[in-house]
Amino acid sequence: MKLAIVGGGSTYTPELIDGFARYRDILPLEEVALVDPDPRRLELVGGMVRRMLARAGHPARVVTTSDVREGVTGADAVLIQLRVGGQDARHADETWPHEVGCIGQETTGPGGFAKALRTVPVVLRIADEVRAHAAPGAWIIDFTNPVGIVTRALLQAGHRAVGLCNVAIGFQRRFAAMLGVDPDEVALGHVGLNHLTWERSVSVAGRDILPELLRDRLGDLADDVHASPSLLTQLGVVPSYYLRYFYAHDLVLAEQLAEPSRAEAVRAIENELLTMYADPSVDQKPEALERRGGAFYSEAAIELLAAIRGADAPARVVNLRNGGVLPFLPDDHVIEVPARYVDGVFVAEPVAALDDDIRGLVSTVAGYERLALDAAVQGGRDRVVRAMRAHPLVLQHDRAERLTDLLLHENRGFLEWA
Ligand code: G6P
Ligand code: MN
Repeated sequence: MKLAIVGGGSTYTPELIDGFARYRDILPLEEVALVDPDPRRLELVGGMVRRMLARAGHPARVVTTSDVREGVTGADAVLIQLRVGGQDARHADETWPHEVGCIGQETTGPGGFAKALRTVPVVLRIADEVRAHAAPGAWIIDFTNPVGIVTRALLQAGHRAVGLCNVAIGFQRRFAAMLGVDPDEVALGHVGLNHLTWERSVSVAGRDILPELLRDRLGDLADDVHASPSLLTQLGVVPSYYLRYFYAHDLVLAEQLAEPSRAEAVRAIENELLTMYADPSVDQKPEALERRGGAFYSEAAIELLAAIRGADAPARVVNLRNGGVLPFLPDDHVIEVPARYVDGVFVAEPVAALDDDIRGLVSTVAGYERLALDAAVQGGRDRVVRAMRAHPLVLQHDRAERLTDLLLHENRGFLEWA
């Protein structure tokens, strides 16, 4: 099979390649095309990828190109993992919302909205190349944030796409380690929207052991998601760490104001990684990669690719069309829940009704996401203000106006319509 990785010059790519080498039995890759606009990154990451595959004795051919069409031509699957504007744009997303007393985050709140506006048009153009030149029936696997909005953009434009995030697989691995069982024995009751999810059950051999975990390992679970134990006890479920931006907004804001941005930290890690990738003697995934947030992302991608190729697989958490699974959301919204791959489509597992507090937040953020996608596709300041105001971290009209001015100013080089 041929896999194209758009954003292949990412310092994360060796993480994926490490997975391909370890799981070559379930994923017979013949060709990997790394597509990236940055020639220096292509050279460094491409070299590293070739050395890693050679060390593992993996037969896959590696092609590097800055031409999307060339990279995706004939691909059986296309993984999109790009960041429009790089860490500079991320740093901006993580800081300008501070001016109105709002947290700065690359996927949540006003910063995530800016990222959606920059990203959706770029991903849609890439997807058109996939539709025209990839192998018939090729899947797009979207890792590009904000995954919920980007996946919906792809589905709305008629692409064969599914969105993926590592939060769920991280929980699955963590719970398995706590319980001393194999990760595949753990089934998650994971529900919500991308980066707005809760683990409502943790089943092993059909029995939900989450109540026991919340009783016996409360401190560890709360630490893992940077939440207070009393929040977990009250909710009776485990929120993802992205819920901190809501449940502990003011605390997070105070932390952010006192620390360098995550983009700055990541830039330093990336420089370290690129120096290693440039060293011809390095042919194994560097430990420094573990300081990034993408733990298990290669496993998540490989499990999904294997399922798409027809492996008999258990349900995995993906981003897909709602289709009535969460009845209070429009059918065409994109939700993040466990799903099985059956006869060429992802089919969500049934989901029990949500509690009022969780349903309310999901519903409000979904409203924002829909307006944000409209703004990303159609442009226009009014659409931006409307989506901004709809976000539950904003809500006030004058704040939305000010945030919109900041967003448009910071992103003037990226938005074709602005
Ligand atoms: C997690 C999220 C990803 C996000 C990443 C950021 O893995 O699920 O969507 O991109 O964290 O990690 P970073 O190292 O870039 O801060
Ligand atoms: Mn994610």
